[in-house]
Amino acid sequence: MNIHIIQEDCTRCLLCVKDCAAAVWREEKGLPMAVFPEACTLCSHCLSVCPAGAIRHDGLDPLQVRRIDKGLINPEAYETVVRGRRSIRRYKDRPVPEDLVQKVIGLAAHTPTATNSQNVAYTVITDRDLLEKISQTIFGFSVKVFRFTQKFPGNLVYKLVRRFPGSEVLARYLDPMPYYLEETGKGRDLILHKAPVLILVHAPGGKNFSCENCNLAAANIMNFAYSLGLGTCYIGFLTLYLKYSKTLRKAVGLPDNRMAYAALVMGYPAYGHTRTASRNTPNIEWLKEKI
Ligand SMILES: Cc1cc2nc3c(=O)[nH]c(=O)nc-3n(C[C@H](O)[C@H](O)[C@H](O)COP(=O)(O)O)c2cc1C
Repeated sequence: MNIHIIQEDCTRCLLCVKDCAAAVWREEKGLPMAVFPEACTLCSHCLSVCPAGAIRHDGLDPLQVRRIDKGLINPEAYETVVRGRRSIRRYKDRPVPEDLVQKVIGLAAHTPTATNSQNVAYTVITDRDLLEKISQTIFGFSVKVFRFTQKFPGNLVYKLVRRFPGSEVLARYLDPMPYYLEETGKGRDLILHKAPVLILVHAPGGKNFSCENCNLAAANIMNFAYSLGLGTCYIGFLTLYLKYSKTLRKAVGLPDNRMAYAALVMGYPAYGHTRTASRNTPNIEWLKEKI
């Protein structure tokens, strides 16, 4: 990899040296030198921190390294997006243009990844038959579990399980099943919510930080989508199911070495939320310097 500095343009501020987390850049006689280019993680910090645009890096696209318009940063707008975004579970029967999905994912690609691995990839599913199949598979499984709990010996097992703390989660999904079945019978999709788009956010399975990388990207997708008038909903049922079902992983085209650590549906909300959420006050423990 060729990384170097245009000496005539360099201001000798040495910010590239200070900011490089991979120790690629070192100071040599007051000048920054890229002494260890093999260690470069392609994070582009040196390019974005250099006030003079004096760095040349053949592993990066200089056209993407644009000046930041700080005047566009609006904390109130950001706060409104984060506070206003809600999980949307009713969608209009209207497709989301492909370029809009691309735009949202394009921004999510700017989410940090551990050691800038950029190992997150996306599968976008808009095939209605496949979406329906995914919903039916997952809902069908929960119906099977429910039916098992309705007669001997399943009812006994369920009674026993209910004695253990934590089983409330199971009960929350199983106990209202008669209602869920009724709703499903009327055509409601309780898994993917009849959204026109499903995005699987995946990364190499079982690798450190794959899960974190995917979920940070997913958070950006949800917030940016909301700012563009789109609704999203995280589908944990699907990520869980994909973890155990090879058949479903195959159906969605996930290679064996990739794991969907986040799954989101997206579409135009059937109606909006006009007020923000009520949330617990964050539990923060301060470990302050003792005076
Ligand atoms: C990891 C995770 C898994 C979730 N799984 C589902 C899901 O399978 N189905 C669903 O409808 N909502 C799911 N949600 C949405 C949460 O229920 C929702 O975020 C939470 O109730 C707060 O509501 P809000 O997103 O509207 O603010 C999930 C959210 C997260 C973060």
